[in-house]
Amino acid sequence: MDDTIAAGTRVDVTVRVNGGARRLRLDARVTLLDALRDELDLTGTKKGCDQGACGACTVLLDGKRVLSCLTLAAQCEGREVTTIEGLAADGRLHPVQEAFIRHDGFQCGYCTPGQIMSALALLQEGRAGSDEEIREFMSGNLCRCGAYPNIVAAIRDVADRGSE
Ligand code: FES
Ligand code: FES
Repeated sequence: MDDTIAAGTRVDVTVRVNGGARRLRLDARVTLLDALRDELDLTGTKKGCDQGACGACTVLLDGKRVLSCLTLAAQCEGREVTTIEGLAADGRLHPVQEAFIRHDGFQCGYCTPGQIMSALALLQEGRAGSDEEIREFMSGNLCRCGAYPNIVAAIRDVADRGSE
């Protein structure tokens, strides 16, 4: 059987994004990253390398972190996607967002949405037991500004407060 998808094949996909159902009709080869940015105007998720190497595009898919540049939108049918835009509730920043501000966990900010989504998943996975563990489980998120020490401090702060 031929499993290849013909160029230009369009598919209907319904995805829950930040709690709301979104219907999309798009090329079967479109990534989740491009669908979020170009179809849904959720540009908080950043495109860095577009090759799975930098972590800038990290979002949660059914609560687990994924690289949205390596995930096809068509694979997300019926699934729950959480982006950086979905974290603040009732006008209040999420505790991880507040901690990044408190600890200056960014400079240019380009990597920051991916860092925060990854940090959220790491905290929920219980992987913030030490600075070494935080560094290891954040190692897929690169920061060209070198804000790493402050990012680790922000994550440790949230872990210590138990507020994730
Ligand atoms: S843009 Fe996805 S890993 Fe770099
Ligand atoms: S804050 Fe600039 S790339 Fe991380």
